[in-house]
Amino acid sequence: MSAAKNGNNIVPRAGIIGWPVDHSRSPLIHNAWLRQLDIGGYYDHCPIAPEADFRAALEAMARRGFIGANVTIPHKETAFQAMDYCDASARHLRAVNTICFRGGEIIGSNTDGAGFIASLTIAAEIAEETTNKVANKNIGWADKPVLVLGAGGAARAIVAALAEHGVPEIRLANRTRSKAEALSHLAPVGHIRIVDWVTRAPAGKDCGLLVNASSLGMRGHPPLDMPLDTLAPQALVSDIVYAPLQTPLLRAARAAGLWPVDGLGMLMHQAALSFQQWFGILPPVDNVLRHRLLADLEEA
Ligand code: ATR
Repeated sequence: MSAAKNGNNIVPRAGIIGWPVDHSRSPLIHNAWLRQLDIGGYYDHCPIAPEADFRAALEAMARRGFIGANVTIPHKETAFQAMDYCDASARHLRAVNTICFRGGEIIGSNTDGAGFIASLTIAAEIAEETTNKVANKNIGWADKPVLVLGAGGAARAIVAALAEHGVPEIRLANRTRSKAEALSHLAPVGHIRIVDWVTRAPAGKDCGLLVNASSLGMRGHPPLDMPLDTLAPQALVSDIVYAPLQTPLLRAARAAGLWPVDGLGMLMHQAALSFQQWFGILPPVDNVLRHRLLADLEEA
């Protein structure tokens, strides 16, 4: 229902806060949904410099009619500190990617982990539909160990979400071991096994899911050197970057008969869960949106 149609003159506004933030595809995603669902309003890039008074900047946005915002690098932890209230997802990660301005309060949550799990679930369903055409195979990634590479902000959200999803074991490898150890508290005791970076290949043994949450393979970074032959048959291989979208890791996964999961799924699903908080509707994550994003990424 557009602002005009519902007789309400307030145009809903939302945006993505970051620094720099020009490259963000969130406006493309949310503005497509706002149009498609005839809600009206718009979603902007909202640059906030690291040295700015973050809380004051949020209060100014609320006064200007924003109903919510997403938060990206480098502000997710600062945002957590600036909220009046945070839900369990944000408290667990001590990081906020979604802000709601509601009733004079500024409320934080984090949809990154749930968005990641949604992207895996859809990828596994598609993989099952494809394999079932030739054999009745169950992808079953969630009942096997998983291997996560990296221990930055993205890895934090992913490890916490995988633990909450109930995978039996999370093996975590990071170049700097102490940073991986610092994530151990995100899962029940004994649930996360820290493995040395140099032993990441054998650590993949029988895993139903490999996640690259390191910056290796991103544009401008070295490729990830990770043999895939120890993973379980039919394993999912997820690379959370989307620049480039088809990383060497995902290409190697496809060539090995495994199931590549690119970074667009997480991007779209975390956005959908934020949108739902602001507008009360879970918007469609479909191939139309995916192709829009692909076209935009190709133009970049
Ligand atoms: P984000 O918050 O987006 O996850 P980040 O905090 O910069 O990004 O994390 C980048 C990750 O890639 C880290 O896990 C980093 O490992 P360190 O903790 O040892 O820095 C990892 N990474 C970056 N360059 C790497 C390299 N050349 N080899 C192995 N890991 C690397």
